[in-house]
Amino acid sequence: EAAEKAGFEHFMMKEIHEQPKAVADTLNSVIRDGKLDLSEIGLEEEVIRSISQIYIVACGSAYHVGMAAQYVIEDLAGLPVRVELASEFRYRKPLLDPNGLAVIISQSGETADSLAALRECREKGIRTLAIVNVVGSSIAREADNVFYTLAGPEISVATTKAYSTQLIAAYVLALQFAKVRGEITVEQCDSYIKELQTIPDKIQKIIEDKERIQWFAAKQANAKDVFFIGRGIDYAISLEGSLKMKEISYIHSEAYAAGELKHGTISLIEDGTLVIGVLTQPELYEKTVSNMVECKSRGAYLMGLTTFGNYNIEDTADFTVYIPKTDPHFATSLAVIPLQLLGYYVSVNKGLDVDKPRNLAKSVTVE
Ligand code: G6P
Repeated sequence: EAAEKAGFEHFMMKEIHEQPKAVADTLNSVIRDGKLDLSEIGLEEEVIRSISQIYIVACGSAYHVGMAAQYVIEDLAGLPVRVELASEFRYRKPLLDPNGLAVIISQSGETADSLAALRECREKGIRTLAIVNVVGSSIAREADNVFYTLAGPEISVATTKAYSTQLIAAYVLALQFAKVRGEITVEQCDSYIKELQTIPDKIQKIIEDKERIQWFAAKQANAKDVFFIGRGIDYAISLEGSLKMKEISYIHSEAYAAGELKHGTISLIEDGTLVIGVLTQPELYEKTVSNMVECKSRGAYLMGLTTFGNYNIEDTADFTVYIPKTDPHFATSLAVIPLQLLGYYVSVNKGLDVDKPRNLAKSVTVE
């Protein structure tokens, strides 16, 4: 096992470091000569034009990819997207638009609820597309079309590189739909692709700066509660950051849409409670800062996670992590990295079993 960890103490850290390559491989698998080429996935342009609605169905972190994808697809492709937890979707007798496309996202391709949701869609005659990491898995075999993520085998229960490659698949689909449906020009699509190609190096830079997070995590090991807040895509990032924290560090954490704080959660803020504000979306920046100020005035200890350049966050936050600039649609790919590292280092500090947290399984094949 030591050999498989390639010098890292845990699989999770190894897999965090594998993200630049996993993301680049997944992206390169659908780009030829700088242009999108989805011929291996087989969603013909005619089909893409006929789709009226996208249903994204998944569990766990894959559901959080769906939450981020919803904003990106709706904004770029102008197509309505609904995101649902597979365990809810399959039992709610969903009314599906016959021209809808169900996108099932799953690392293992074996999650029982996701597989059941896929079958439900197929029974109802809805076209299905799977975004799957494990080749030949049940979900990959049963879906009409498959977009394979190229993360390679993931051992750590808490997903990192599979999540990151699922995001790439979602962006690629958003761009392909946007281009085919005439929502963006070919030139605009090419420039989004160029930007996506910079993501692996930017992830690498964030990982290289991990000691700062390690230092901060050491101070948080005794935290009782952590709240992650953000709006829009930053809310989707918060959901994943919160899951990473709770699943491996056993610290209670919640992600909240920042605007909802006042409807309940703010009553939980006490002196020293850690609140992490995610601020990657320029249009929502000021709004989230003001929510952070509200938390601070109730005693919260604030961490800000934002883009280089937003230095005035230091007037509000006690500790700030900066990520490189990118197109805001793709910010999830960068902002999630410090949050993975934070969960990891808190868990290590507490001496917990990072790769195999209690009560959790890598693949949930029972209901
Ligand atoms: C488990 C894993 C999570 C994963 C979820 C969905 O809970 O611990 O990391 O996000 O299942 O798994 P899937 O294989 O369908 O992506």
